[in-house]
Amino acid sequence: MSVTLKPPVPKVAIIGLGLIGGSWVKGLRLNKAVACVVGFDRNQDSMQMAIELGVIDRSAASPAEAVADADVVILSVPILATHEILLAIKDALKPGAIITDVGSVKGNVEAAIRDVFKADVSNFVLGHPIAGSEKSGITAADETLFANHKVILTPLAETAENALAMVAYLWQVVGAKVETMAVAHHDEVLAATSHLPHLLAYSLVDTLAHSHENKEIFNYAAGGFRDFTRIAASSPKMWHDIFTANKGAVLDALDLFTRDLTSLREAVASSDSTAMMGVFTRAKVARDHFSAILARRSYVGSKSKQINYIAQPGGVISGTFRVPGDKSISHRAIMLGSIAQGITQVTGFLEGEDSLATLQAFRDMGVVIEGPHRGCVTIHGVGLYGLQAPPNSLYLGNSGTSMRLLAGLLAGQSFAVELSGDGSLSKRPMSRVANPLRNMGANIETANDGCPPVVIQPVEKLNAIEYTLPMASAQVKSSVLLAGLYANGTTVVVEPAPTRDHTERMLKGFGYDVKVAGNAVSLQAGGKLTACNIDVPTDISSAAFFMVAASIAKGSDITLEHVGINPTRMGVVNILRLMGANIVLLNEKEVGGEPVADIRIQYAPLKGVNIPKAQVPLAIDEFPAIFIAAACAQGQTVLSGAEELRVKESDRIQAMVDGLMKLGVDIKGTQDGAIINGFGAEGAFKGGSIHSQHDHRIAMSFTVASLRAEGVIEIQDCANVATSFPGFVELAQSAGMNVLIKSE
Ligand code: S3P
Repeated sequence: MSVTLKPPVPKVAIIGLGLIGGSWVKGLRLNKAVACVVGFDRNQDSMQMAIELGVIDRSAASPAEAVADADVVILSVPILATHEILLAIKDALKPGAIITDVGSVKGNVEAAIRDVFKADVSNFVLGHPIAGSEKSGITAADETLFANHKVILTPLAETAENALAMVAYLWQVVGAKVETMAVAHHDEVLAATSHLPHLLAYSLVDTLAHSHENKEIFNYAAGGFRDFTRIAASSPKMWHDIFTANKGAVLDALDLFTRDLTSLREAVASSDSTAMMGVFTRAKVARDHFSAILARRSYVGSKSKQINYIAQPGGVISGTFRVPGDKSISHRAIMLGSIAQGITQVTGFLEGEDSLATLQAFRDMGVVIEGPHRGCVTIHGVGLYGLQAPPNSLYLGNSGTSMRLLAGLLAGQSFAVELSGDGSLSKRPMSRVANPLRNMGANIETANDGCPPVVIQPVEKLNAIEYTLPMASAQVKSSVLLAGLYANGTTVVVEPAPTRDHTERMLKGFGYDVKVAGNAVSLQAGGKLTACNIDVPTDISSAAFFMVAASIAKGSDITLEHVGINPTRMGVVNILRLMGANIVLLNEKEVGGEPVADIRIQYAPLKGVNIPKAQVPLAIDEFPAIFIAAACAQGQTVLSGAEELRVKESDRIQAMVDGLMKLGVDIKGTQDGAIINGFGAEGAFKGGSIHSQHDHRIAMSFTVASLRAEGVIEIQDCANVATSFPGFVELAQSAGMNVLIKSE
């Protein structure tokens, strides 16, 4: 919350001179936010020390004397002493005095004030700073203790606005970030995140210390012991009070933990590797995620950094290398491996954010998935009917493929589920899958405009349909086919033009009967998927950036290894060859049902072409890179029939037209494509600053453009490159592009 009005400078009283309260008032005094601070503590030495350290102006002989003239009273006493202190100060308080506290439990403090002050509680603002230190006592008082830390205020229904504003202001003065929360919610959250870990640490150290007479174990206690038990050195009295005061919520958290610990014990006892790996992999992901959050912020949210690319002009690219694994195939490997019977081993998996979102979604639905580790993933399939309801909304980040395919796969499950995503995904059309799925009898809702979140409720049964796709979309085709695995009858999907067929191929690889006849694909429910090994080829969509790079930079010669060359993805090769590119396929072979090859690309002058409409769905993700090639070609390139580009991670027609115009290219956007008048073999892009529109492929395309630029190209907001191409900048550098990451 933010406070705009600075309240009048108050006189403050503090009861209890410990680290937390002492640090707060010391900061208030140093910032001249208070007129004076009067302190009381049972311990005379603490009071004396507080004056010497500049924490308080003067001491009082009793709590009542301390509060007599105060506008704001801070209670910084052990939580179980609150009731007694309230009784002691009640009659001495100035009318209108605001009372706040710093205790770790709020429910018992609320009970105490209601007991002592009855209905007269409007001036109470209970609070809890989420900060601490290994040290304790007034001598450790530190005015910077709360800088950038959260303080949770838990106002009551009766709390007066001016009282809340005053306390919030006094925290903000010392640099804290103020949030508000209901009392009960605060106590539940803290029971789980703070109180339970302390209880466990105390208990573990006690058990170990007493079960090994000679204390030998402590001689061998390494990092694990130290990390896990550090908090058992905290104040026993304070924690006794906290567990006593927050008994209900602590017991609830402890019961949940005991239940899970008992199952883990059983898993260890019965050598149930799947169950053990389930716990450990889920926990590792959660902890890694949390570590990433902690690395960015200490208890408080700070704006995460924006990543820009700075691409220096010129360069020649050369070498033999591999781009990351295919995104479409990686998604499908996780999905089909999860609903197969048995253990599926995946190699070459794309460790990008999009496919990791799919992986996490299946973990959330109870599938044990090991890895990824250097592209290897082990999926313990649960069978077609083994998925479980996820605890929360499935968050799919930037990934349209995850959301659309999952909508189909989950339409026939016995549990409800919500699918949500980031800002870009939340603007993308989902009716294209929701409509056919509804025709099959699914109960599926989108937001009003047909966009995410997508909410799916279980239904009695799904019925097979014959569906003619209104647009050439592999995602919609796959979504309907995956729903068809759970539908009565034969599901048929007819496509207006061929689109990537990875779903069909992989279903067959898992032993499922899928029939392809002309432009129709069909399958029947009632079969099963049997686990298999999947070798994911590298992604032709990622390779495309380097194909264009080598084609436009004079002297370039590269070989991209093990690239997927499925005919339904070959549009980029076909179009670049039409433009005159020198592309040769080597070592062609088939791996796990998908054709692969090494692709050699050497520089060749390009010419403008009319892009054949039939190639559009086969190159749908590669157009941003193809636009760069077209700009470097001699003559006009015309793209039409590509209106789907307007509903990708960004409006890719607009993003490319805007960016290329900035770089001096003669380009005109049309409703379903663009007309690009290339500058030819001797021309060049101007330098300039381009916005990626949060779209990975736009960011990478303009990086490639720098090879033929006469000035620096800065591309803003490139963090999304991690969705499909982790390590892009490093690979581009090693191939010969002069691009750097700048984070701000
Ligand atoms: C994909 C299909 C295409 C493509 C997307 C991945 C897939 O989307 O653009 O990046 O894996 O099925 P559409 O089905 O919307 O064309």
